[in-house]
Amino acid sequence: MSDDNLTVSIADNIGTLTINRPKALNALDSGTLEMLSSTVTELEINDDVHVIVITGAGDRAFVAGGDIADLNSRRGLQHYLEFAELIHAVFRQIEVCKKPTISAVNGWALGGGAELILATDIRIAVEDAVLGLPEITLGLFPGAGGSQRLLRQVAPCQAKELMFTGDRISAHEAQRIGLINRVVSREELMPEVMKTAQKIASHSPLVLQLLKRNLTSGQDMPLPAALAHEQAMIGLVLDTKDAHEGCSAFLEKRPAVFKGE
Ligand code: CAA
Repeated sequence: MSDDNLTVSIADNIGTLTINRPKALNALDSGTLEMLSSTVTELEINDDVHVIVITGAGDRAFVAGGDIADLNSRRGLQHYLEFAELIHAVFRQIEVCKKPTISAVNGWALGGGAELILATDIRIAVEDAVLGLPEITLGLFPGAGGSQRLLRQVAPCQAKELMFTGDRISAHEAQRIGLINRVVSREELMPEVMKTAQKIASHSPLVLQLLKRNLTSGQDMPLPAALAHEQAMIGLVLDTKDAHEGCSAFLEKRPAVFKGE
């Protein structure tokens, strides 16, 4: 499941996917995006994987954006429409992936890198990580889903200032505006990410998937429809063996053993 531009490891029900182009600060070219897509698909259907972690190779960058050299080497509307379709499809695939996803932000997260973070569920960053959407400085705008996701994830005035100025912000500022969950030292990054992933992975994988589906679908619905959807989903959850196991374990004062059933 690995190629040169992407490495994958699976341990303790956690699939860790590392974007591995450190010489280009892990910038995303078309080949890497295609590999990202097929790897997420494989991790999604692998029952041993309950949580997916995404990070960048090396200690400089998470992802410094779309690959500018690759983008600039092409010409023609058809190519760019296809590139936009590809990057949108991959980031949407990550956003709606049925398993929880965590970004381990180990450095620069700019442009498409910040947009990738916006498609993941939980984000933990090193204190010297820098985030931003500098596309406007390149004569572009965030077009990998980022303009719309950012607008919906932080206060619109914060989102618009970031996109209009192209300014970079520190990890602490990104946390302050609600873009990332927490900031840790570089040494603490992977232990903290794995601790969070393990806590999530210890729960019922089936119920996690139903919860994620409930959240992903519900957030785009009007509240009455979202509540009706949640009501149907919790009915399904209450009928699972894992729900009976979790409640029985509580009453019997023992740890639950979830089987994803
Ligand atoms: N695409 C391609 N290559 C990139 C890259 C990118 N996004 N970001 C960095 N690189 C390359 C550099 O060209 C350089 O390569 P060489 O060694 O061959 O010259 C190498 O990575 C190291 O980069 P720097 O020498 O620039 O390192 P630095 O420490 O001086 O600066 C940086 C780091 C501030 C992140 C700077 O590299 C930078 O500004 N990068 C571009 C960030 C950016 O604008 N991202 C948005 C891209 S557009 C986009 O993302 C849209 C989309 O998805 C479709």
